[in-house]
Amino acid sequence: MDIPDASRRHRRRGFRLSFGLLLLALSPVPLALFIAGRSDFDPAPFPADFLQPSPAAETEHGAMLATGELVGEGKLPGPEDLAYDEEEGYLYTGCADGWIRRVLLAGEAAVEDWADVGGRPLGVALSPDGGLVVAESEKGLLKVSKERKITLLTDEADGQKFKLTDGVHVASDGTIFFTDASYKYDLESHFLDFLEGRPHGRLLSYNPVTNHTTVLARDLYFANGISVAPDQNSLIFCETPLRRCRRYHIRGEKNGTIEEFMENLPGFPDNIRYIRDNNYLIALCTERNLLWDLLMKYPLLRKLKFLLGSHLANIPPMRNSGLMRVSLDGKPMAIFSDPHLSLVTSGLQIGKHLYFGSLHENHILRVDLTKLENVANK
Ligand SMILES: *[C@@H]1O[C@H](CO)[C@@H](O)[C@H](O)[C@H]1NC(C)=O
Ligand SMILES: *[C@@H]1O[C@H](CO)[C@@H](O)[C@H](O)[C@H]1NC(C)=O
Repeated sequence: MDIPDASRRHRRRGFRLSFGLLLLALSPVPLALFIAGRSDFDPAPFPADFLQPSPAAETEHGAMLATGELVGEGKLPGPEDLAYDEEEGYLYTGCADGWIRRVLLAGEAAVEDWADVGGRPLGVALSPDGGLVVAESEKGLLKVSKERKITLLTDEADGQKFKLTDGVHVASDGTIFFTDASYKYDLESHFLDFLEGRPHGRLLSYNPVTNHTTVLARDLYFANGISVAPDQNSLIFCETPLRRCRRYHIRGEKNGTIEEFMENLPGFPDNIRYIRDNNYLIALCTERNLLWDLLMKYPLLRKLKFLLGSHLANIPPMRNSGLMRVSLDGKPMAIFSDPHLSLVTSGLQIGKHLYFGSLHENHILRVDLTKLENVANK
């Protein structure tokens, strides 16, 4: 008597289970179609030739986490970019909660809340007059004076508002060079800009004497980090999804023209900074690998990634992030990475230490370069 009943129950449960599984499997699809119908996310092919082999660096150090120590642990949420005031010994960084914090590097590396600019400060750069210039992703280009007075310098150019003010550096004559990664997507949806394969980025300058903002180059692919060259004749800027950095001339007979600097980087470049001894440091926020190559090659895969959203959140994985030391003419000299590092967004060398900023860690990673000689190269 019990048997048919039990088997019916069993069948019913089986039906419910498979129906549930089917719903679960299909649930992203209507949701995705709903989102897709309402979104103007429209992936396009990237300009070709960025899938060539990456040039190898002379040395590759692959164990930064084992070698390094954590500075300001728990007190520096998302220290995206770094700027060092050599005279006073402070390392400045913009954090995820809107605060610019600074770390006195001498002694115990104490963290100080310095100025609350709000929003999400990304690029930070010292100004020759002592203050700090901040690329705040939402409001635009800000100046924080030594007395911590905050002023908005500019938030638009040629009638177009910035939506993702990102990298900044100041030339020795006071001219501020900066990037707006996208006029279409804001910080929250920045990954869509990265995936879309359409150029919404601009390279800009701000003249603090005339208060004038100039568009130097437009139609850039997620224009990100920027560094003025030590001779002040040009600057290098990075286009993250294309894995390339290019040179823009700011003086001389090539003034206003763009030249190749580095193509096919082994990872996706974020900030770049001139350090010293004729070197730049470029932060690679994740490595390049086969999955990334496929994704960037095929717009359809990027559409799929968008449609499946969180189901593909960590595919391809962000890993093997780090810093690359590059010569003045764009030769890769050394890579400092770790398989478990992701979203390293900036780097500096101060004395014998490398400092790693990050979009999502709660500290700055510091690595003693003299200790690396004892660690096996990758
Ligand atoms: C530039 O802006 C500052 C601050 O808003 C202002 O004091 C100054 O007069 C402006 N300069 C010019 C040339 O417009
Ligand atoms: C470079 O060219 C721009 C115009 O494109 C001009 O405003 C600027 O003064 C020039 N700079 C130098 C140093 O010649």
